[in-house]
Amino acid sequence: MTTSQNELKRPHSPSYDLTGKRVVVVGGKTGIGLGMAQAAHAAGASVTVASRRSPSVANHPELAPFEQLVLDIGDEDAVRATFGAIGRLDHLLVAAGPTDGSWGAFMDEDMRGVRSYADSKFLGSWACARYAAPKLSSEGSITFLTGGIAARPKIGMTAVTSTFAAVEALARSLALELGPIRVNAIRPGFIDTDLWNFLSPTDAADVRERVRDNFPARRIGYPADVGHAAVFLMTNPYVTGTVLEVSGGETLVDWQF
Ligand SMILES: NC(=O)c1ccc[n+]([C@@H]2O[C@H](COP(=O)([O-])OP(=O)(O)OC[C@H]3O[C@@H](n4cnc5c(N)ncnc54)[C@H](OP(=O)(O)O)[C@@H]3O)[C@@H](O)[C@H]2O)c1
Repeated sequence: MTTSQNELKRPHSPSYDLTGKRVVVVGGKTGIGLGMAQAAHAAGASVTVASRRSPSVANHPELAPFEQLVLDIGDEDAVRATFGAIGRLDHLLVAAGPTDGSWGAFMDEDMRGVRSYADSKFLGSWACARYAAPKLSSEGSITFLTGGIAARPKIGMTAVTSTFAAVEALARSLALELGPIRVNAIRPGFIDTDLWNFLSPTDAADVRERVRDNFPARRIGYPADVGHAAVFLMTNPYVTGTVLEVSGGETLVDWQF
């Protein structure tokens, strides 16, 4: 047996270290994306966060560790130019997505909301992967973000369910086409972010209580829970083409939001 074969057979200890790695988190200035950016930074990476807004660090000190870029993933030319300017990177995380609920019900005659939602979440994720891929290290990875609704549809949420499922299929397909670059998706459940700010304080408290009563993990999820999973997917060299659910067991129980 040659040295390199011996080397491959030798069990190596797991590492969650991203020291010296460059990570780009699209949609990384708030919510789940920020949780991913903070986890990557804590693991040693230098992290760039990109999205449409450009919050000042004075008002948002949580963004101080990161390089900030302005990017609308719905604008393909801007995505191309941004990754052209970024240059080499090790890992891409795409957390961005519309959260304003403007997609509409299936029987609506006006499909503009659906087109706009799928255009931003699905084609935006596609564009980020397309223009980042030539810049990615061969040991690098791409991670998309979907949601538990991809596995358990809810009435009135067909656009979100279908779009998330398409993003998960994109991850599997790109794992084949871009290998050895690894491509995965994280499917979060109910995560405590500004997305839920439309709820009144009473309704929010009610949802939290029902989550505690019903979810196997007995609590709502936090962006840091998803960040932890993102670090795993970036550092494990043999996981690709998979969907990692981080939902506290939400999809196992009969629970209606
Ligand atoms: N929170 C949950 O319980 C949950 C559960 C399942 C799935 N998800 C999904 O997870 C993703 C993140 O949600 P979140 O809860 O973290 O909410 P959030 O804090 O509102 O995050 C959405 C992020 O996406 C960015 N974004 C939106 N449109 C963009 C665009 N066209 N180009 C670039 N960036 C864009 C926003 O930044 P800018 O406004 O600065 O562009 C924002 O940082 C969403 O796709 C959401 O549907 C969330």
